[in-house]
Amino acid sequence: MKFFVDTADTAEISDLAATGLLDGVTTNPSLIAKSGRDFLEVTAEICKLTAGPVSAEVVALDHEGMMREAEILRKIADNVCVKVPLTIDGLKTCKKLTADGTMVNVTLCFSATQALLAAKAGATFVSPFVGRHDDNGFDGMQLISDIRLIYDNYDYATQILVASIRHGVHVLESAKIGADVITAPPAVIKGLFRHVLTEKGIEGFLADWAKTGQSIG
Ligand code: E4P
Repeated sequence: MKFFVDTADTAEISDLAATGLLDGVTTNPSLIAKSGRDFLEVTAEICKLTAGPVSAEVVALDHEGMMREAEILRKIADNVCVKVPLTIDGLKTCKKLTADGTMVNVTLCFSATQALLAAKAGATFVSPFVGRHDDNGFDGMQLISDIRLIYDNYDYATQILVASIRHGVHVLESAKIGADVITAPPAVIKGLFRHVLTEKGIEGFLADWAKTGQSIG
């Protein structure tokens, strides 16, 4: 399973990239606003921090406008993945861009039938938002299972990119279902490394090691 980080904070991205476990980055207009940075400038910087796909989202709502913005975004770097909303114009744009060899992430997916449409439009990634789905009284992980089943039924190559992840259990369930990618905030990814028994274990081993009076090397 691939791990993307959901942020436009370049310090956080560098930090995670240094682990060697980061496969890509996703951003959205809210995350760009939070960074306080210029959109094109920060996206170019992020594209240098990872060799993986970097999702950059269009803000136009009509097909022509989306195509104009996509032209600018895809010139930033080869690893830019143009993010479009799951609307008729968004999927029209997706079809056109993927036919040209540009990666496309179809975002704001909240139903399995929407995900089916994204696959038919040739999306590279579809982003179902599990956290926001849960927040509204639906079952985010059931949505992922349904999409996995449908994509496998028809051998669609579109990758399921689980988005709006709130905690480690979302990551665990995504892996059990066989989602292709998760994108999560830096804090959630960093939390996956931690376990109270790992910390306790290190503490105990170091205390016993100190008693030996030895050092390595
Ligand atoms: C996905 O690409 C989105 O940027 C993101 O996961 C949205 O998450 P949120 O619901 O925490 O804003």
